[in-house]
Amino acid sequence: MLINGETEVYGIFGYPVKHSKSPVFQNPAFSFYNLNSVYIPFEVEPSRLEEGIKSLKVLNIKGINITIPHKEEAIKYLDELSDEVKYIKAVNTVKNMDGYLIGYNTDAYGFITGLKEIEKDLIEKKILIIGAGGASRGVIYSLIKEGVNKIFLANRTLERAKKIVEDFKTLNRFIEDIIKIIPQKDIGKFINEADIIVNTTPVGLKEGDPWLFDYNLLKEKHTVVDIVYKKTPLIEIAIKKGCKWQDGYPMLLYQGAKSFEIWTGKKAPIDIMKKALGLS
Ligand code: ATR
Repeated sequence: MLINGETEVYGIFGYPVKHSKSPVFQNPAFSFYNLNSVYIPFEVEPSRLEEGIKSLKVLNIKGINITIPHKEEAIKYLDELSDEVKYIKAVNTVKNMDGYLIGYNTDAYGFITGLKEIEKDLIEKKILIIGAGGASRGVIYSLIKEGVNKIFLANRTLERAKKIVEDFKTLNRFIEDIIKIIPQKDIGKFINEADIIVNTTPVGLKEGDPWLFDYNLLKEKHTVVDIVYKKTPLIEIAIKKGCKWQDGYPMLLYQGAKSFEIWTGKKAPIDIMKKALGLS
């Protein structure tokens, strides 16, 4: 990579950002097209996010990804929001068009594209989603857009699940029939009925985290997705039971691919990005 006076700058805002894998696979994608562009990590303190985002205009930074903990807060400082952001209420991609900042959420696309690699036909599937935060909203948005018509939504705090149903009424007017809210303690009762189980909570990331339900209830017929990058106990048991399974890497790959396409207008070189992530 040759940096010169015309190099265009992209990057990621996070706090912390050191562990981000995005620079690892975005830079090879730029190189694939011989673009004079570079993608770098920016550690932005939460209290300085507004300044950080305004600096995109000053420094003519062409595009950024936004990661934890800034995804919700960043919305406030953008000039325009893509439609999905209005439902998901979190932004992970910003495009700077001559000083006009447009926010997108490519996590939803990333999730559904990853899931379709292991589940071709989703329409008739019953999907159990655990968690009702920003990640869950992205997952639900993508499934509703795909035409899924049965979702069980479990969360520790029921109010947050109810708020999602309320907010999604304008996306699909049958949303109250599609999403059945269940208390976290009742998840076990719905496992057998579900085809696909998706964990969107951080539970399982830390050693010794409690189980979200009795994972021994999993059967070979289930497809299990955990959107974190690590093999959580949920995934480990799914593997043992012979389930189809997926961790967070496909979602990471495809959200990044979509961001690349939004910024450059070029088809993301998926194989190059996959290889850089160590997925192929
Ligand atoms: P994200 O944007 O990654 O989704 P978030 O908005 O903080 O992050 O949401 C985290 C989700 O994980 C929430 O559904 C949260 O449950 P609550 O709404 O009840 O807070 C869930 N979560 C976090 N820690 C949890 C735990 N120990 N047990 C169960 N659910 C948990």
